[in-house]
Amino acid sequence: MSTEIWLDTDPGFDDWMAWALLQAEPGLKLVGVSVVAGNAPLRQTLANALRIRALHGWTVPVHAGCERPLVQAPVTAQDVLGETAMATAGRALPLTRAQPVAAHGVQALIDAARARPGRLTLLALGPLTNLATAFDAAPDLPALLKAVVLMGGSTDRGNTTAVAEFNIHADPEAAARVFGAGVPVVMFGLNVCRQVLVGDEHVRAVRALGTERALLFADHLDAYVGIARRRGGTHMAVYDPTPVAWLSRPELFALEPAHVDVELEGRLTRGMTVCEFRVPARARPNTRVATQADGPEVMAWSLRGLARVLS
Ligand code: BDR
Ligand code: CA
Repeated sequence: MSTEIWLDTDPGFDDWMAWALLQAEPGLKLVGVSVVAGNAPLRQTLANALRIRALHGWTVPVHAGCERPLVQAPVTAQDVLGETAMATAGRALPLTRAQPVAAHGVQALIDAARARPGRLTLLALGPLTNLATAFDAAPDLPALLKAVVLMGGSTDRGNTTAVAEFNIHADPEAAARVFGAGVPVVMFGLNVCRQVLVGDEHVRAVRALGTERALLFADHLDAYVGIARRRGGTHMAVYDPTPVAWLSRPELFALEPAHVDVELEGRLTRGMTVCEFRVPARARPNTRVATQADGPEVMAWSLRGLARVLS
């Protein structure tokens, strides 16, 4: 029996890699995709999503979702990822005339959950605006979902601020709504994604696959590793693909129950995921937080999946 998944995403190269790994895994059944503003404005993340789908010839429906965070002004990661959020060391994703399905992403994900009571996992790889809007629009949604699995937050350091991770920082009110929705949440924060590292050896392995698609992907992976090179490092953390690896290979991870709250007010701490691990003594657990990953094994699994989807 395969796990049925709805992907909510803001591509971004690491979102592309995560999506590719989802498609590569026979035990994971992707039923739909909603796109959200995040790494770049919605028009750009949506264009990226449609180009990725066209490149691979996938047929999964892609829906446009929310354009702005619930409360605050939009922020993007274009300062790090470049104007298109899809930097490349060579070839660029080909343009496509493809359009999204007409239904709004929020309604589409609600409909997908209602069609599969108790079976659908929401995999969220961007700011949580679409999910929070769906929970507000459909009070029956929490009881319908199997789980929300998300890349976001951190148990320790942040990336956008000292303590806030980008996906939470980009819409803290939405994140607070999701952690408080009463759905089982599984959180893959920076603390665990930084244990999964990608470097030049992986770029070379993808390039060696030799197909046009693999060379195109390798050029983007090269540029992604380039973010670390510019900072004097050699390896980048693998963010969005990490929860996909867990969905397929949970034995490679350790998770701990916690109560996660999102700080909405702190002048220095807005967008921080405050993780109370002293559960149930001090708080009711609402999340399983990933704390350990076998990084080399996750990367070996990723390369096998990429070989299937890029060949
Ligand atoms: C997250 O932020 C985005 O830039 C990535 O796609 C990932 O979802 C990492 O903080
Ligand atoms: Ca993302």
